[in-house]
Amino acid sequence: MHYLDHAATTPLRPAAREAWLAAADLTGNPSSLHGEGRRVRAVVEDARERIGAALGADAAEVILLSGGTEADNLALKGLWWGRGGAGRIVTTAVEHHAVLDSAKWLADREGAELVEVGVDSAGAVDIDAFTAALPGATLATAMWVNNEVGAVQPVAELAAAAAAAGVPMHCDAVQAVGYEQVDFGASGLTTMAVSAHKIGGPVGVGALLARRDAPLAPLLHGGGQERKLRSGTVDAAGAAAFAAALEQVVAERDLERRRVEALGDRLATGIRDAVPDAVVRGAADGCSAHVVHAVVPGASSEAMLMLLDAAGVAVSSGSACTAGVVERSHVLQAMGHTPEESRSAVRFSLGWTTTDGDVDAALAALADAVARARAAGRMR
Ligand SMILES: Cc1ncc(COP(=O)(O)O)c(C=O)c1O
Repeated sequence: MHYLDHAATTPLRPAAREAWLAAADLTGNPSSLHGEGRRVRAVVEDARERIGAALGADAAEVILLSGGTEADNLALKGLWWGRGGAGRIVTTAVEHHAVLDSAKWLADREGAELVEVGVDSAGAVDIDAFTAALPGATLATAMWVNNEVGAVQPVAELAAAAAAAGVPMHCDAVQAVGYEQVDFGASGLTTMAVSAHKIGGPVGVGALLARRDAPLAPLLHGGGQERKLRSGTVDAAGAAAFAAALEQVVAERDLERRRVEALGDRLATGIRDAVPDAVVRGAADGCSAHVVHAVVPGASSEAMLMLLDAAGVAVSSGSACTAGVVERSHVLQAMGHTPEESRSAVRFSLGWTTTDGDVDAALAALADAVARARAAGRMR
């Protein structure tokens, strides 16, 4: 199988597996005072320190939890309730559902006024509109790298605008950590979400980085772990594996970005040659190194994915799926694509295991998959 779906999840790195298994063999609750508990607590605190160091944060700013979805929920709902539970949320039209649906839930259930700032045809947030919506807002949120098309947002400028307006700002950096220079301390952000399984760590662990003065209310109550912001026994093995994966990513990031970008450029060029009317976005168009996205008029996402899968190439549409049917992408619609085009996308996402052979296989299968998907569409 040629796995080109790293934005969905990544193969586990050997260093992460090793750290995971070593810590999983320890018995002891990190909150227990006996020696066994203290041993596990030491694993957690070592991981916290290393996760913080890799991301430009102090250890005390690292709240360990179950992944990107939980981190986004804690940031949005936690900042909302922490700031009194009233007012306006400023977000963008292209956020991951973990952010967008949290914001919509707060609008529906809590009466939040929601401002969804639009993007241009490349997926970049309108900074002026974002800035104009900020004064008096309760919180603001914008993602760093878009998970569907790979668009990289001007996070530093957006965070500076939020800081100038005195508005706490969250950023979903789940897709950014692999290939962007992510420095939480320098970013000016109040909170930031990261997830281990997008960078070669295990599924089910992540972190919300939160400045010490972040006005966050907890969503989970219980034992008071993680600065009383996230009760529940801390997953020591997951944290150790996350730290191991993250350290490797940061150490190799520049080299890996160049390597993955070259593979992605070759893939994007090949797609344009094979399907001249496709709208292709890749690193050369200002997107993240690891995403090559194509809108293919007249071919449904499901048909292309299944035909590529049958040819041994694993890819996604990038947008949400309900009962096996790819939903119209809110991201592509915000970028100006028609509703039909927004169900005609294929996302190739590359990562640490991707080779020239994977790109060759994808390109060898693509023209036929597109032709057959288009023919199936015409028969419907
Ligand atoms: C941008 C973004 N945010 C949040 C998430 C959710 O992360 P997790 O799977 O760790 O809950 C994902 C993963 O799909 C993502 O790509």
